[in-house]
Amino acid sequence: MTKTIAIDGKTIPFEDGQTIMDAALAADVYIPHLCHHPEFTPHGSCKLCSVKVNGRICSACTFPAAEGQDIINNSDELNGDRKRITQMLFVEGNHFCPSCEKSGNCPLQAVAYYLNMLDNHFPFFFQTRQLDASHPDVLIDHNRCIFCTLCVRASQQQDGKDVFGIAGRGINKHLIVNAESGQLKDTDLDAADKAAHVCPTGAILIKRTGYQVPIGQRIYDHHQIDAVSLAASGSRPSAALPPFVAVVAEGGRHGR
Ligand code: SF4
Ligand code: FES
Repeated sequence: MTKTIAIDGKTIPFEDGQTIMDAALAADVYIPHLCHHPEFTPHGSCKLCSVKVNGRICSACTFPAAEGQDIINNSDELNGDRKRITQMLFVEGNHFCPSCEKSGNCPLQAVAYYLNMLDNHFPFFFQTRQLDASHPDVLIDHNRCIFCTLCVRASQQQDGKDVFGIAGRGINKHLIVNAESGQLKDTDLDAADKAAHVCPTGAILIKRTGYQVPIGQRIYDHHQIDAVSLAASGSRPSAALPPFVAVVAEGGRHGR
């Protein structure tokens, strides 16, 4: 017999081993997320996917689906919390969206739109963060890193390398690279590596590609992140999608 959970009153089947996020995406239900990527081990750090499971707050990307769970996902309370978390991400780093190469293709920006984030709410930290342009093909702008560890996991789990890591705690947390010099050019990162393409912000960028698609014609300039995410997860048939969302779906979840 098929096992089921309920998300916002909708009955959803799941298989043993699936998380709530896995089951939701497969059933065409969007749960906001930033650090989740189906190709990598869940990390559960951004907390954007917080849902209420039988009245208790859990991270949907790490919490296993189990028979009879009654889950609340799309509520004013949870979306309000998600908006505050997103606002914290924005004030902690330095995100200059209008001048960022990733604008319009950025899941962080898109999730902020989705949550109707209209201001920063908290005062900006104005942290001093560095830029590493040493690598011939890939750039790190530390101003935009949200410590989701997707680059860390992609490098280890898909590229078979260990290029990125997170060091420090709290306000001192920072992205590091695996080189004595601390510079990206001295790592074995290649521009074709998954780790160079998985960043949900403009922190890791491929050089000389930034404006190939003009601003105004990018993914989230035309589609909400929930539609893009569900298309990319394969839960919606490509034929029913606008053409370039279908391309995202076929090419993997870079739009997330
Ligand atoms: S550089 Fe990007 S992918 Fe890596 S931890 Fe920072 S935000 Fe995440
Ligand atoms: S997506 Fe679940 S904690 Fe980030």
